Amino acid sequence: MTPPRRYYITTFGCQMNKADSERMAGILDQMGLEAVEEPEQADLLLYNTCTIRDNAEQKVYSYLGRQAKRKQTEPNLTLVVAGCVAQQEGEQLLRRVPELDLVMGPQYANRLGELLEQVVAGSQVVATEPIEIIEDITKPRRDSQVSAWVNVIYGCNERCTYCVVPSVRGVEQSRSPQAIRQEIEELGSQGYKEITLLGQNIDAYGRDLPGISPSGRRQHTFTDLLYYIHDVEGIERIRFATSHPRYFTERLIRACGELPKVCKHFHIPFQSGDNDILKAMARGYTRERYLKIIDTIRHYMPDASLSADAIVGFPGETEEQFERTLDLVEQVGFDQLNTAAYSPRPNTPAAQWPNQLSGSIKGDRLQRINHLVGIKAAERSQRYLGRIEKVLVEDTNPKDPAQVMGRTEGNRLTFLPGNIDELMGHIVAVKITEVRPFSLSGEQTRMSHIA
Ligand code: SAH
Ligand code: SF4
Ligand code: F3S
Repeated sequence: MTPPRRYYITTFGCQMNKADSERMAGILDQMGLEAVEEPEQADLLLYNTCTIRDNAEQKVYSYLGRQAKRKQTEPNLTLVVAGCVAQQEGEQLLRRVPELDLVMGPQYANRLGELLEQVVAGSQVVATEPIEIIEDITKPRRDSQVSAWVNVIYGCNERCTYCVVPSVRGVEQSRSPQAIRQEIEELGSQGYKEITLLGQNIDAYGRDLPGISPSGRRQHTFTDLLYYIHDVEGIERIRFATSHPRYFTERLIRACGELPKVCKHFHIPFQSGDNDILKAMARGYTRERYLKIIDTIRHYMPDASLSADAIVGFPGETEEQFERTLDLVEQVGFDQLNTAAYSPRPNTPAAQWPNQLSGSIKGDRLQRINHLVGIKAAERSQRYLGRIEKVLVEDTNPKDPAQVMGRTEGNRLTFLPGNIDELMGHIVAVKITEVRPFSLSGEQTRMSHIA
């Protein structure tokens, strides 16, 4: 077939997928393809897919169905499915959508170039065999000019009984501290101000790297990595996600308190507030241990923002057990909480269990927890009223061109009057005049550009 010339990427799912899409776009740019604004203008369509819950997976099929039809009239259209649905379904995806040219798992993102060459040579390609992720040699095409994702560890070695990620993302693979620092240095020199270090279980960073110190301590922990990259010039803010409570150490908490560029915002999913459910989920910690981590964070950083993920309606969850989750939400007071009703996933133990709950119980619990989350977030927002917050300006407010938007150190989205050409990439002091549960508004104060 003729080599494609114009591409369009649709990304579903988590930050990991967004980062992979930016790298795949970088590869396509390097191959001389042009990015276009609308899928209809493209002759290569890439779907980077997510399968964390059933509705995420179904969304992919409805998109694919539409584009597969297009192929009947445009035989030169190249259709690529990447990401987690590709890994989960593999060859079966070709049976379901025979029009596909390439099905590639997340571990192949950096190899998109070679795979496309095979497609152009006339093959229908499925790349889902577990493989070592090659070190990133491409320049990602990043969506933001201010804030950038930096992968530090791929994959996940946990076995949470509900979760499809280990089977689609493979085993943990840490990048070397040198490669990570080099990427961050480049970002700093290109004018990026903020980085978010990424891993499904970022505290596991370094477990697979060689090197034990004489005292027997691992040399490459995530905490060590933070110290190692902290002084990169130009980078003002360092964020990271996702943290697993099992591995969240006091040493890491102290480091975050001590290192000025590390934002005092922690995303630590707890999933459930009930110990028996946590055990059934195989999470490896208790409610008490989780609350201890929160206490320790607040001891060192009293104003820290906290966010988390929680699942309601896990198999066998009783009303009392669900209420313990509500109680934990009440007790901690999260700034933000991502909630989801349990969704049975292929190749996961919990999906096989007989004690599944009905859709209506799950729906009811989801509504109740979301109601509480809104109340708590509104309470947490109150503390910002009248305060001066440092906001890193990233973009124009899409709903009001006279305003720009950015985030506080604690990750609250904040709007303020201003001109993006002047303010983009600056950290400005903003007096907060209006608070909503999940966002703030304010005005630049006179001590305007603090960085
Ligand atoms: N590695 C992270 C989470 C990755 S998945 C961690 O360990 O916390 C993101 C979130 O999706 C999870 O935190 C969980 O809350 C949710 N999730 C994962 N599998 C799910 C399922 N089968 N049903 C509902 N929610 C799920
Ligand atoms: Fe999934 Fe658990 Fe791994 Fe997170 S730690 S990605 S929830 S298996
Ligand atoms: Fe989805 Fe895969 Fe991320 S399943 S949440 S895109 S790791």
